[in-house]
Amino acid sequence: MLGNRVDRYSSGAILLHWLIALALAAVIAIGFTMPKDASGFQLFQLHKSIGITILVLTVVRIVWRLTHKRPDKVERGLTGFLASAVHVLFYAFMLLAPLTGWAVVSSSELDIPTLLYGVVPWPHLPVPQSLNHTLEEAHELLAFLGLALFVLHVAGALRHHFLRGDNFIGRMSPGASGATGLLLGAGVVALGGGLFFWLGAAYPKTDAPAAEETVAPTDEATDAAVTEEAAGDEEGSEEEVTGDDAPAEASEDETAPEEEAAEPDPEPTVAAGPPPSWTIQPGGSLRFSVDNSGTAMNGSFGQWSGNIAMDPDNPSTAQISINIQLASATMNDATQNEMLRGAEFLAASANPTATWRSSSVTSQGGGRYRAEGTLSLKGVSRSQPITFTLSGNGNSRSVSGQATIDRNAFSVGTGPNASGLAGNVTLNFAFDATR
Ligand code: HEM
Ligand code: HEM
Repeated sequence: MLGNRVDRYSSGAILLHWLIALALAAVIAIGFTMPKDASGFQLFQLHKSIGITILVLTVVRIVWRLTHKRPDKVERGLTGFLASAVHVLFYAFMLLAPLTGWAVVSSSELDIPTLLYGVVPWPHLPVPQSLNHTLEEAHELLAFLGLALFVLHVAGALRHHFLRGDNFIGRMSPGASGATGLLLGAGVVALGGGLFFWLGAAYPKTDAPAAEETVAPTDEATDAAVTEEAAGDEEGSEEEVTGDDAPAEASEDETAPEEEAAEPDPEPTVAAGPPPSWTIQPGGSLRFSVDNSGTAMNGSFGQWSGNIAMDPDNPSTAQISINIQLASATMNDATQNEMLRGAEFLAASANPTATWRSSSVTSQGGGRYRAEGTLSLKGVSRSQPITFTLSGNGNSRSVSGQATIDRNAFSVGTGPNASGLAGNVTLNFAFDATR
């Protein structure tokens, strides 16, 4: 009876049934294991991509269901009713789970764009931010509902198939035999379970509270490392310059703000005369790196420029300014770039340029210099030292240097997306300059 065509679902229905089942296994496993901070960014994008795919496939499936004859029901009575109820709830779940997920993303204050599979831009729904939390709860609850339906559905199918020995699963199998269906069912479980344990091991911090708890120690550890580095640097340099430069630096520090206030566009007025100007040669780099829960996240700025007037032998007269086009910040992929340039991080459209202007430059010996200055970024201006080394001589120099920026002071990375990010961002630059 079950072997003939009428008693089986149409091939389109069977294809959609198993595609969606496999996709659901993956999306749920990823959903529960993806870290809810920036380190889970790629998994989040994958979760959203598969989730939207499920939504689209479900719409196709419902249209298919309404336009194609399904085989007659074989279960009657209470179990028949239960089976149908599970099917109806499954359809509701397959629509509502992705819709609530989509609404969560749309109502998030982080405003993270969705780029399906890194390629297709997906719009936001018009949902108010105030609903975000409720939607998150609903989305999670629906996932558990889906799991419960899955257990009931599979238990029912297996019961029917094995207790009645009527090849029931053959109704929903690619081949007429139920074996392929059983194999696909096992595949669904293996995919979901495998992904869950594999990702769970790869990303041990699965839920938000755990992630928050670990942020502080990670941050502290990184801060400690950076402080140690800085202390190490200073120790080294102090040996060379103590007594000489330290007081000079302090007094210059004091005069620097006055100078800026009194003369917004100061010309060098020091007896040593105007320092020579240097032209930054193409091919330089300006990179940044930040620790994200133990992994370094790296990126760079493609567009930046600067004006440098400095006599390497008499750095106290130096005037340096650097302009960085924030929209040229790049990381791994288009979505990450968009997030980086977006409101939560660099806010490139509101304040397109970050500038750094030197106030005093002091030699630390051996071609090393320390420059005090002001960094203006995202509407905040704050003192920001940098250190750099000059090599070469005559009319050409190679410059390489570093700055450690406290991103929180500039409100770069404010939401939960940045919760795994260390507070300090290391900036490294290298370029050649000619006179
Ligand atoms: C059938 C489709 C989907 C299922 C079964 C599903 C399932 C899940 C699960 C199990 C979680 C983890 C819940 C938690 O740990 O709190 C989750 C989280 C999440 N999902 Fe989905 N998801 C689906 C589709 C989507 C779609 C289409 C989007 C967005 C376009 C999305 C966005 C999210 C977001 C933003 C979170 C994190 C919520 C939070 O911060 O707690 N999901 N999803
Ligand atoms: C998350 C995974 C799954 C979902 C969302 C799902 C959903 C559904 C839905 C909605 C139907 C009803 C089709 C209709 O009449 O319109 C159905 C039928 C069916 N499913 Fe699944 N299913 C899943 C996994 C499985 C697995 C793992 C098996 C086998 C072990 C299975 C076996 C069947 C069978 C045999 C039918 C036909 C039932 C009948 O003829 O009354 N399904 N499934």
